[in-house]
Amino acid sequence: MNAQLFSPYTIKQVTFKNRIVMAPMCQYSAHDQDGKIQDWHRVHYASRAVGGVGLIIIEATAVLPEGRISYRDLGIWSDEHVSGLKELVDLVHRNGAKIGIQLAHAGRKAELEETIIAPSAIPFPDKKTPKAAESGDIRRIVEGFRDGARRAKEAGFDVIEIHAAHGYLLNEFLSPVTNHREDEYGGNADNRYRLLGEVIEAVNSVWSGPLFVRVSANEYDPQGNSLEQYIDYARRMKAQGVDLIDCSSGGLVPAQIQAFPGYQVNLAEQIRRQAEVATGAVGLITEPSHAEEILGNGRADLVLLGRELLRNPYWAYEAAKALNITLDRPVQYQRA
Ligand code: FNR
Repeated sequence: MNAQLFSPYTIKQVTFKNRIVMAPMCQYSAHDQDGKIQDWHRVHYASRAVGGVGLIIIEATAVLPEGRISYRDLGIWSDEHVSGLKELVDLVHRNGAKIGIQLAHAGRKAELEETIIAPSAIPFPDKKTPKAAESGDIRRIVEGFRDGARRAKEAGFDVIEIHAAHGYLLNEFLSPVTNHREDEYGGNADNRYRLLGEVIEAVNSVWSGPLFVRVSANEYDPQGNSLEQYIDYARRMKAQGVDLIDCSSGGLVPAQIQAFPGYQVNLAEQIRRQAEVATGAVGLITEPSHAEEILGNGRADLVLLGRELLRNPYWAYEAAKALNITLDRPVQYQRA
């Protein structure tokens, strides 16, 4: 049988051997507030490479120290982070997978002692009130993403994903719920998109590889951006050279989300069809036949698995078996 799930996919000369992507997932396992790679990260990510995943996107990695969700986040705010990240990249490559990094700034969702930054001084319910970003802060943010991208390139990553989802800083700028600014970074959609647009441009100034952006294409707030608005944002991103929109949802405001298998796939499908851009589908995709359905019906170009790959690093081999594909396990495991 010919399974879409196991067909290669190429973006800008980078070929993923299959369409199975490990979704970015914070491990909160850095030590001493230094944001550096530890043994946990080496073992955790390399295991999924051994497990046959095509592309591993490592967790939200902070481009500025005040952009961490927690003191145990990974960081890429300093040149000192490059050597550990390079070690991780080489380890994953030697075990057969491609590797991407999610560049992130937590905005008002940073759980830190210091001053936290957001478009407007509106707290996430029951959390600390952020400072509204001034023009110097905005410059620092854009330069932070640019320098993070430069360091990601030095470390040898295959893909950069910009985190503009889940109610973190860039999502906060995009959404009228969290962005009440009256300057050129707030108000209408052009203005709310401006910071993400500048971040993409800054990343593009140092990076020519595959570029993904993760969005929350349903904000679960009647005052929030609609899916139509995200289709418009996706068109803008495509025009700026973004290769793939990773379509997630939620996180902007507290919300009860009805999660069922593939609950976010329609977002990837609509954005793919209407903005004519490649998409990734994520969210409760656990069954090989479901992953195959999403790809085979042209609803997304890649499928991302999160928690299923935490439970089962060898999902890819089981999926191949279920889809009648011959996939060689690492030689050390072939007698199993
Ligand atoms: C996540 N998720 C997430 N998303 C993201 O964009 N950046 C991140 O760093 C994290 N961190 C994270 C940690 C953990 C422990 C979990 C479980 C999830 C969300 C994740 O990428 C994915 O979108 C969701 O988990 C939904 O997919 P699954 O788990 O249903 O396949």
